[in-house]
Amino acid sequence: MLDLKIDGATVIDGTGIAGGRADVGVQGDVIAAVGDLSREPASRTLNAAGKVLAPGFIDMHSHSDWRLWGNRRAESKIRQGVTTEVVGNCGFSPAPASTEFLDDLKRFALFTPSGMDFRWRSVGEYLDAFDAGGTALNVAQLIGLGTVRVAAMGFARRPPTASELKQMQRMVALGMEDGACGVSTGLIYAPGSFATTEEIIEVTKVAARHRGFYASHIRGEGATLLDAVAEAIRVGREADCPVQVSHVKAAGRPNWGKVAEELALIDAACAEGLDVMGDVYPYTASSTSLRTLLPDWALEGGIDAMLKRLVDPRERARIGREVESPPGGQGLVQRMGWENVMIAYCARRKDAEGRRLSEIAAARGMDPMEAAFELLVDEAGGASMILFQLDEADLRRALVHPRVMIGSDGSALAPYGEMAVGKPHPRSYGTFPRVLGEYAREQRLLPLAHAVHKMTGLPARRLGLRDRGVVRPGAKADLVVFDARHVADRATYEDPHRYPTGVEHVVVNGSLVIKDGEHTGSLPGRVLRFN
Ligand code: CU
Ligand code: ZN
Repeated sequence: MLDLKIDGATVIDGTGIAGGRADVGVQGDVIAAVGDLSREPASRTLNAAGKVLAPGFIDMHSHSDWRLWGNRRAESKIRQGVTTEVVGNCGFSPAPASTEFLDDLKRFALFTPSGMDFRWRSVGEYLDAFDAGGTALNVAQLIGLGTVRVAAMGFARRPPTASELKQMQRMVALGMEDGACGVSTGLIYAPGSFATTEEIIEVTKVAARHRGFYASHIRGEGATLLDAVAEAIRVGREADCPVQVSHVKAAGRPNWGKVAEELALIDAACAEGLDVMGDVYPYTASSTSLRTLLPDWALEGGIDAMLKRLVDPRERARIGREVESPPGGQGLVQRMGWENVMIAYCARRKDAEGRRLSEIAAARGMDPMEAAFELLVDEAGGASMILFQLDEADLRRALVHPRVMIGSDGSALAPYGEMAVGKPHPRSYGTFPRVLGEYAREQRLLPLAHAVHKMTGLPARRLGLRDRGVVRPGAKADLVVFDARHVADRATYEDPHRYPTGVEHVVVNGSLVIKDGEHTGSLPGRVLRFN
């Protein structure tokens, strides 16, 4: 007797091959059978004729480790069909933490939901604390090397001492033993930006020994893009570690087209025998914290030190000079202009949300850069922005590349409660339906089965998960049923808190979390341990 039977769907199994009609039977948290199950009794049957059944989607690049504490239902992700999120990206995870530098870590977070109390220190303690609350979907945790650096040495802008380096390596070793899937860096963000390549190699070696991978928000996505990709590949080579290039892109009009060269570097590394992959989200705007506009030295010593510099006239002028003419010749603002910077979220100056810095500045009768600094000070460093700075042709190149998978770079949000704030990037609500609807169906950029593979089998391969990302007997029952003719994203930059359409049922570890498009309230997800 099956616990659940899904009848009559076109099954796209996640391997990349086109689908065929089959029934899928679930027993406990496992797929028990695939084929003609018309004679198999089941306690519950869903008719999915005319729909597609696929493995639940794996969001390869997520920042939900923060939001999920206040959004256990994982609303904006589960409703896209996401059943596993890879969190702890861009160098930033909530653990490990040290008592000495705990405040630095807390201040660094852009958003801390009410449930997050930092009672943990190690990654293991963190994962246990998180798991105890339950979630709608599964979580794979990366250890952020920025977080590790904060725990060992705060926001110090210098190389670690020998004993600090040892401490970092030990934190990574313990975190890997406790079940993390790898390490991540965010090399445009302090304090990750304070780390040399050698330091990253030494710490990543430890993750490699535990069969983890290295995910990198690389050191530059604009003028220095290709050097930055080369650095990530070098870390992989010298640390003997698989590499994941996070959110593949070329930022700013002068750099448009460079994604082709970026992908060629990845191909060349693979031809050399290295294991390098990437992920991408299907939008031409990026999003990050507003303070990323500042040179990284402005964050030396942490957020309070940055705020002090911003209110000191001489320091502020020095920061301003560097924002206007950065040493590399091309900063965020040079390559795009203030009119392409939109404020996504700020806690106090609500009027600024959804507006461009050029408009905000005009309304206040000030220079855009001054308006940005003022906002940073008013928000105590906590605002975020959307940058309209990417090229559609680059995006299409990344989407079709065989080693590039889908990662939202967003978080699990919800259109209600404390998750509904601001005008966040629509990727948190729309990434997966947008690839399936806009790029596979409407634009015919790639076959549906390939699009599904980039959300299932390919990320499962990167993670080393053999029992997820595929529909076959014996695999874990993470499944999504969607209507391929109607699946679509609805979230926009102006109106982002909108669920997609066309995702009908979502099963996590054998339990229905979305049924007929509605959340059941079930929390069958768990932390996946990679030890
Ligand atoms: Cu990220
Ligand atoms: Zn990033």
